[in-house]
Amino acid sequence: MAAGVGFNDVKPLLERRCTGCHGAKTALHGLRLDTREGALKGGESGVPSILPGKSAESLLIRYVSGADKEIVMPPAGPKLTAEEIRLLREWIDSEQAAPVRVERPKGYDHWSFQPIRKSNVPEVKRKDWIRTPIDAFVLAKLEAKGWQPAHAAQPHQLLRRVHLDLIGLPPTLAEQSAFARKPDLDAVAKDLLGRASHGERWGRHWLDLVRFAESNGYERDGTKPEAYKFRDYVIRAFNQDKPFDRFMAEQLAGDELDGANEETLIATGYNRLGPWDDEPADPAEDRFDQLDDVVSTTSQVFLGLTLGCARCHNHKFDPLTAQDYYSMVAIFNVLERPRRGRTELTLPVGTHAAIERERARDARLQQQAAMAAAQTQLFGSPLREPLEAIAAIKRTEPDLPRGYFLHEPKSQPPKTHLLVRGKATRPGPEVPPAVPAVLVKQQPEFPETGAQSSQRRLTLARWLASRDNPLTARVIVNRVWQFHFGEGLVRTPSDFGTLGQRPSHPELLDWLATWFMDNGWSFKKLHTLILASNTYRMSKAANESYVAEDPENRLLWRFPFRRLEAEAIRDSMLAVSGRLNPKMYGPSMFPEVPEAAMAGSSDPDKIWKASPEDERSRRTVYAFLKRSLIVPMLEVLDLCDTSRTSAQRLTTSVAPQALTLFNGDFVNAQARHFADRLRREGGADPAKQIDLAYRLTLARPPTAAESAKMLKFVEREPLEQLARVILNLNEFVYTD
Ligand code: HEC
Ligand code: HEC
Repeated sequence: MAAGVGFNDVKPLLERRCTGCHGAKTALHGLRLDTREGALKGGESGVPSILPGKSAESLLIRYVSGADKEIVMPPAGPKLTAEEIRLLREWIDSEQAAPVRVERPKGYDHWSFQPIRKSNVPEVKRKDWIRTPIDAFVLAKLEAKGWQPAHAAQPHQLLRRVHLDLIGLPPTLAEQSAFARKPDLDAVAKDLLGRASHGERWGRHWLDLVRFAESNGYERDGTKPEAYKFRDYVIRAFNQDKPFDRFMAEQLAGDELDGANEETLIATGYNRLGPWDDEPADPAEDRFDQLDDVVSTTSQVFLGLTLGCARCHNHKFDPLTAQDYYSMVAIFNVLERPRRGRTELTLPVGTHAAIERERARDARLQQQAAMAAAQTQLFGSPLREPLEAIAAIKRTEPDLPRGYFLHEPKSQPPKTHLLVRGKATRPGPEVPPAVPAVLVKQQPEFPETGAQSSQRRLTLARWLASRDNPLTARVIVNRVWQFHFGEGLVRTPSDFGTLGQRPSHPELLDWLATWFMDNGWSFKKLHTLILASNTYRMSKAANESYVAEDPENRLLWRFPFRRLEAEAIRDSMLAVSGRLNPKMYGPSMFPEVPEAAMAGSSDPDKIWKASPEDERSRRTVYAFLKRSLIVPMLEVLDLCDTSRTSAQRLTTSVAPQALTLFNGDFVNAQARHFADRLRREGGADPAKQIDLAYRLTLARPPTAAESAKMLKFVEREPLEQLARVILNLNEFVYTD
């Protein structure tokens, strides 16, 4: 019998056929078979190679016996004989399930996995430069090199900078003259943070991160009904200054919150925004692709971790295992997509009670309809009662609004298995819901099952916002910094792992993270703090010797150069041309798409029908985002990839950009409107028109030289051309 076959009995066989590749010197795929512990621990697939007492389920036996279609061990030379395989089976079956001391993967000491430290504000020499503690952290690094920060930007530059930053639009003439009278930038920032257009600007940053689009992608690219409500939710959240911990919880688990309602259910659209293949070749694989979309997005957005790399093997660089990955899958595996065949379904939104009422009402309606049908069979037509009952129900109880999100229809969560090499056909051991082990001393407690739902996503959301978690606060304050300065303190904003970059100012990052949590995770407070700093108010002036030593401005010795995003460019053009339609919220509008972009389509009208001009002139955040047909002007100006989370816009400069800006239909139309406005508001005097054009676009009058040049230009060319030239100035498409 099996009893008695121990590791020493199989050792010679393993040494002969396996340890050349799985030994102390070479451990291919992370596996060592020269020790018993190595076999129990397993390799990079993340599963133990042997399961004590269970030879049939052990990966090692599957690989040597030919039970696995793709992998046979050893990969070269003769196969093991039946006798050899029997010996290995006997060994595994007689193994006791003795606990193995599993070594931690490398990388536990990486900086971002350490607790956030409450840093002290450093001492500096030039105390007069310090407006907020941020300045002390920045200046201390500069002083250590004997450097000086750039002088302050000019008032008109600061005004334009803060307008574009906070609301994505340049300051109006009235705002410019108010600021000239009272140049109080703190007051301007406060005013802008209170405006509805702030959410339209900052909400868009968030939409990039959560891969927002309004269609499914893939072949058919069907429309996601009601997805625009998620966009509106995000804009409102930024305007209400929804605390970030709450914002996270609503998106991940709005259905599981106490007091779940229409708003929190819409928020959980987050889980459903990714691309969706409505007719996948392999439904089982596809299910895990969908889960991967949520797990990868969530770990990058909220933790700055590329956990998706541990789907098919343990993460090759970070201490993240396949077990960690599938434990996160187990958190979301409870969710299902409401659908009928290929057709996506929406769900009613409201409080739990309202949804229950609607369900009961629908049941009554069905009952009455069934009665009417039965009566029709019996008597040839229904009696009055059921028809009257149906009419009464309809009259008194209107339908709830609908939303686009996933749900947990089953009370019992399904089991989740680790998949060997990421294949749905190769389930390994079962894994419980858990968060990545490197981030916790003790796992948060995932309840067995909750009243309305599994509570797994809610548990995750609470842990994300807990003080024990070293990443979430660091990652989000770094993003906010990045959107103000173009680059984060960590320049790989969604990868805080070992392949990511280290922070340029680690103490500042931790100080901000702590401050943010201490201040109720409030974005508006954080913006106020950053905008109040002298760091934010520096000019972009270059210093040759600093450029030579720190060309990327990592030490923040000046304010960085930044091109505006596609949305801010388009919106600014509408604003100065006088055509911006301020209508907020609701179904998206369809900007004009050149016919060439739809060439080859048999029925272009079905794919895209431009809205009337007034509707098209709304802010770009309201433009319909169709994954298979991105509006060319936005694409050319580097809109993000909508199929996955996107942390930072690229700034490419390619020829089509110049063409779009200089000669595209949209820009031509705005140039005409802009010229009309210059005539209307500037009168017939070309000098006045030019002065007005500069003030509206650049928040400053033209210099004498610019004025002279432009006057010459309008002697030869119509005013529309001048308008077009000005909308194409670099200064117009760059922040100040
Ligand atoms: C020539 C080198 C080589 C030899 C010899 C070899 N292996 Fe492997 N082994 C590999 C490679 C490469 C992989 C990775 C396969 C993959 O998943 O693509 C692997 C993977 C494995 C795994 C899976 C580890 C994990 O967690 O992913 C097991 C189990 C395994 N080998 C067992 C054996 C046994 C038992 C023997 C001897 C009978 C053996 N191997 C001999 C190269 C070798
Ligand atoms: C869909 C499955 C899958 C995913 C997801 C995946 N890999 Fe791999 N990866 C493989 C396979 C298969 C191999 C080859 C066998 C092995 O080494 O495990 C491999 C090998 C590697 C190797 C070793 C290459 C070599 O030459 O030794 C590295 C490094 C690697 N992957 C990194 C990554 C990173 C980083 C990510 C995330 C961005 C990632 N992988 C995501 C399947 C995957």
